[in-house]
Amino acid sequence: MSIKIPFLSKQPKESDSLSEENAPNHVAIIMDGNGRWAQKRGLPRFAGHKEGVSTVNKIVKTAVKANVKVLTLYTFSTENWKRPKQEVEYILKLPKEFLHVYLPSLMENNVRIQTIGDFQALPSHTQEAVNYAKEKTKHNDGLILNFALNYGGRYEILKAVKQIVSEVKEDDIDMSSLDEETFSKYLYTTGVSDPDLLIRTGGECRLSNFMLWQMAYTEFWFTDKLWPEFTEETFYEALLAYQHRKRRYGGI
Ligand code: IPE
Ligand code: IPE
Ligand code: MG
Repeated sequence: MSIKIPFLSKQPKESDSLSEENAPNHVAIIMDGNGRWAQKRGLPRFAGHKEGVSTVNKIVKTAVKANVKVLTLYTFSTENWKRPKQEVEYILKLPKEFLHVYLPSLMENNVRIQTIGDFQALPSHTQEAVNYAKEKTKHNDGLILNFALNYGGRYEILKAVKQIVSEVKEDDIDMSSLDEETFSKYLYTTGVSDPDLLIRTGGECRLSNFMLWQMAYTEFWFTDKLWPEFTEETFYEALLAYQHRKRRYGGI
């Protein structure tokens, strides 16, 4: 069965429409290019981050319509602390602003907010706003909107290893029973399936420390479009491209 895409002015050909059977469950996005978007317009970098927030809203709505189950958005990496203090502060205020404006529509769309990353190290105002939204949306059973906030893939793996080592020392787990499935339970993403599709905007073709463990078999899709100019159509293009991929997981 194919999915009609109500937001597209021109409906795709039958052969190009999203099929439900082959739709990605979990889409992860590296939302890159905000700074360059602003620079191109002679604006300060923060103007690009601000514009990027509207894109988040559009793409969340599109994900709901396209029946995506989990949308993980790389919002702030553990390396992004290297940026000027003012820019870091600005970025970390955006979750609160986003939720202030869009929480009612997220509720209407049955969206549940979650996060991955080192949450405790975030400013308290960011934690409070996000915790409020998590609590408010916890019974929603539609799209899981997962913000990667102060997230780093290597940090996540190392944290899991440290916890496992301490549990082995305490005899809480048996080393011989440790397998990939058990290891996954120590990651931030416990209980969430691995991303099926990764989209990166902004023209760079790298992971920048995003979901290293979880992306072992993820399909990658890159676009030169900068995040503030990423549209519902571009998102749809990526979903469609995913549907034409053959995933083999090492088999034939
Ligand atoms: C992505 O846009 C947003 C964050 C990393 C928070 P950038 O700020 O990295 O934009 P460019 O890559 O400098 O254009
Ligand atoms: C990745 O973008 C992080 C986020 C989008 C939050 P960066 O702009 O930080 O990545 P690099 O520095 O170009 O690798
Ligand atoms: Mg960047």
